[in-house]
Amino acid sequence: QTLSAREKNVVFIGFMGVGKTTIGELVAEKLSRSFTDIDEEIVKEFNMTIPEIFEKHGEKAFREKEKELTLGICKEKRKIISIGGGAFTQKEIRDICLSTTIVYFLEMSWESWKKRIDILLESRPILQGKSEDDIEKLFYDRQINYNQHHLKYNADEQTEEEIAEKVIESLK
Ligand code: S3P
Repeated sequence: QTLSAREKNVVFIGFMGVGKTTIGELVAEKLSRSFTDIDEEIVKEFNMTIPEIFEKHGEKAFREKEKELTLGICKEKRKIISIGGGAFTQKEIRDICLSTTIVYFLEMSWESWKKRIDILLESRPILQGKSEDDIEKLFYDRQINYNQHHLKYNADEQTEEEIAEKVIESLK
């Protein structure tokens, strides 16, 4: 069954803290479509914060839940979805998103992104205990997965509003 762009789910990918959730919410609101943030759903399921999930259950349990919820929502239609920055390291998530949804990659340069480390540190267990060099390596390693997408926007110099407008335009 082939769905038109109006019916397809839209998924935002990209590294931590680039604006996936904010842009997803803006797009959903402007298009009167429903928005789901997979991280938020994981938090609800475990009834604890992401750092607590990593600490008490481990990253593996987090990734399992991330996969289950993402694969589940991909069966729906017209959803605007944001997934965590590590989700695309899972092949099953990449495969289902790329084959059933429209995947938007929100790209940012390392130079712009690294200014955000301090504000993200507390809520992102993946960054904790890592040197800036380690984080830079992770940043570049992750780009290989993000390079599998349908459309991309650069978030270095555009506001979240501007990107949301472009996403909406591309869906017309
Ligand atoms: C992660 C990114 C986070 C969240 C978790 C792990 C990652 O989501 O899923 O902390 O491995 O990159 P955001 O990309 O929304 O920060």
